[in-house]
Amino acid sequence: MPDLVSLIKKALFDRFGEQLEIDTGLGGIDEVARISTHRVHRRYLARDISPRLVRLLCACALSAPSKSDLQQADIVIVRDKSKIDAIGDLLPEMPWLRDAPVFLVFLANGRRLPKICQMRGKPFPNDHLDLLFNATVDAAIVMTTFLRAAEAVGLGCCPISVIRDHAAIVSELLALPDKVIPVVGMCLGWPAEGGRITPRLSLGTTVHEERFTDKNLDAAIDAYDRRRAAILPYRSQREPERFGQSEFYGWSEDKARQYAVPLRADFGAFVRSKNFRLD
Ligand SMILES: Cc1cc2nc3c(=O)[nH]c(=O)nc-3n(C[C@H](O)[C@H](O)[C@H](O)COP(=O)(O)O)c2cc1C
Repeated sequence: MPDLVSLIKKALFDRFGEQLEIDTGLGGIDEVARISTHRVHRRYLARDISPRLVRLLCACALSAPSKSDLQQADIVIVRDKSKIDAIGDLLPEMPWLRDAPVFLVFLANGRRLPKICQMRGKPFPNDHLDLLFNATVDAAIVMTTFLRAAEAVGLGCCPISVIRDHAAIVSELLALPDKVIPVVGMCLGWPAEGGRITPRLSLGTTVHEERFTDKNLDAAIDAYDRRRAAILPYRSQREPERFGQSEFYGWSEDKARQYAVPLRADFGAFVRSKNFRLD
């Protein structure tokens, strides 16, 4: 299927600035094409998604691998418009949330395992950081697998971590008990536009052969900034009143400005308030 191969090569060139070789006759090329052309969608048609389809996607998502088969990720499906609006009200800078017919929240559930130990009359001497970590990793994998399945059927997704800026309120809205926390939300809808490829750091920066190195990081970041700006320039600069107007405004300038203010500094306190131990 040479058209799919060309599509993949083009997407990965735009993404990484590198021509990748693809063996002829490679299986699963349609899936590779979907994965390589991924993009988030933030505009949706006013068209519902059937509960049956969402359930199928949840089943696909929860078919993902799970650490030690512990199954510590859960999903909350939110369809109630008033609840979506209540979450949207917390995040006025992200209006796409209110437009999504379905909003999902992927949870780290560190509650079930200690309960199971209790049910089976066993001690649970593992109430420490790893409980949170394992459940969070599982939730992230489930979220990604959901996205893969949703994109396969033509739906558009936008993960939403900013719900964690309001973790306690979201937690209350969804009736989350102790040791269950929201890891990431997700807008789900039928895409209203095609979306676009977002370039990533070069594979030379993020893929390491045999051992880690970031020896040439400065040059790699500069090169990425230029490559990305040629394809997807920023429309505006963050906080010009504080940082001034940069003549060249690349990804690294944007991320440095974004993280020059405290973000979610209270998240540890929220996680502790949910009775997770972080030591
Ligand atoms: C864990 C996670 C959290 C995210 N949170 C948000 C968010 O709160 N709001 C948003 O608009 N996009 C969010 N995104 C989407 C990213 O901004 C997007 O993936 C990134 O810009 C790269 O674009 P692409 O996925 O189209 O390649 C999130 C993505 C991930 C993986």
